[in-house]
Amino acid sequence: MANQPITSVAVVMVPLPAQGHLNQLLHLSRLVSVYDIPIHFISTTTHTRQAKTRVHGWDPLSKTNINFHEFPTPPFNNPPPNPNSSIKFPSQIIPSLHASTNLRDPVYKLIQKLSKTTQRIVIIYDSLMAYVVQDIRSIPNAESFCFQSSSAFTIYSLYWEAVGKPLLPFKACHIENVPLEDCFPLEIQELVKVLYDVPKSNTGDIYNTSRLIDGIYLDLLAEAKATGTNKLFAIGPFNPISLLGTKNQENNQNKCLLWLDKQEPNSVLFISFGTTSSLTDEQINEIAIGLEKSEHKFIWVLRDADKGDVFEGEIRKAPLPEGYEERVKERGIIVRDWAPQLEILGHGSTGGFISHCGWNSCMESISLGVPIGAWPMHSDQPGNAFLVTKVLRIGVEVKDWARRDEVIDSITVEKVVRRLLGSEEGDEIRKRAKELGEIVRESVVEGGDTKKEMDSFIAHITR
Ligand SMILES: *[C@@H]1O[C@H](CO)[C@@H](O)[C@H](O)[C@H]1NC(C)=O
Ligand SMILES: *[C@@H]1O[C@H](CO)[C@@H](O)[C@H](O)[C@H]1NC(C)=O
Repeated sequence: MANQPITSVAVVMVPLPAQGHLNQLLHLSRLVSVYDIPIHFISTTTHTRQAKTRVHGWDPLSKTNINFHEFPTPPFNNPPPNPNSSIKFPSQIIPSLHASTNLRDPVYKLIQKLSKTTQRIVIIYDSLMAYVVQDIRSIPNAESFCFQSSSAFTIYSLYWEAVGKPLLPFKACHIENVPLEDCFPLEIQELVKVLYDVPKSNTGDIYNTSRLIDGIYLDLLAEAKATGTNKLFAIGPFNPISLLGTKNQENNQNKCLLWLDKQEPNSVLFISFGTTSSLTDEQINEIAIGLEKSEHKFIWVLRDADKGDVFEGEIRKAPLPEGYEERVKERGIIVRDWAPQLEILGHGSTGGFISHCGWNSCMESISLGVPIGAWPMHSDQPGNAFLVTKVLRIGVEVKDWARRDEVIDSITVEKVVRRLLGSEEGDEIRKRAKELGEIVRESVVEGGDTKKEMDSFIAHITR
């Protein structure tokens, strides 16, 4: 089927304009375009540019059947992230998310136009773009799917809480202990109401997870029609580059990868907190000292969180202790910009990952068999951290959600690094992580469950 052009269907992608989300639907564009289906990727002018410039592992412009559409929004407030805020949710991007509601009209008009020249128009939208796509219900040959950007585990936990914590089946009893309070600050709850609470007409949901990871919860979500549908496709993980640590050309010269080549197997810690949270100077200082004292090797991505518009304004350079970089230069690399995360995690020298537990990072670590030191910051991250440490048991807690308002001291950081990289317990966890990674990777190749589920999704939309 992959070689036969299908002209009767076109797919429109409507991502939430925030890095982790933009990236997901851009990768999904590539995956669907492989089946010779034309793709229309729609966002605001600045976020389309952001998605294209930050993509790793392939060139979206070389794919001639992916069309980018960009629409301006009215100017929005673009404050820098506040590292001192006790709430780690990226409040600085809220104005840009509000601005994205202006896409409603142009998105509708574009889809209406496309629907006239296509037999079936399929819209895949981020769950938080429901507001923007709500009018497509009136287009008879339009069909939509909601892309869920988190784990089925966490989404089911949130649903279970929202419907008053009913009795759980035994196989899902873990859910009772998932930390859920204060995950979404009030201002985001209000925003979510605007972006999500609209009449929906989607035929099904798409998850970037694997039934091997949280299949029980996919079944429970479907059974309860928790998001309004029981047609769920679990198509993850689909990684943009080979999962087996082979370098692609753009990264042949990357200093992190060249350095990793010279290290012992499982000897290096990778530490990165994603694009949404900024840490206080004090917390950064404690991490720095902890890493130094642990005497283990590390690659630390030390970037400030994204602003609503990443192309405007200054970026804070978080300070490190006096003389630090010089002192650790034999053992550590500090990256202030982008690191090739997938390839670092896929490298045999990497033995652990301290992460905020955003779902993309979790999926990458799980599928590449790297144990996680969990340090959740907001939203779905505390739930994902629970899944990784307590259910899958392929990680350890660095920061328990109950201590969310505290600074984690250097001694805790040091201890966790030693537990992950230099203890029998760490070896046990790594063994489990590697076993899970292996079976998850097997699922994406021809004949595997994930591959089959993707094929069945394509068969469904091209029926
Ligand atoms: C799914 O997750 C993987 C991490 O395993 C990520 O690299 C990929 O871009 C994601 N794909 C989609 C379509 O979200
Ligand atoms: C955060 O707090 C520190 C110490 O109290 C202060 O030096 C710094 O300027 C503050 N940063 C911001 C962006 O408010």
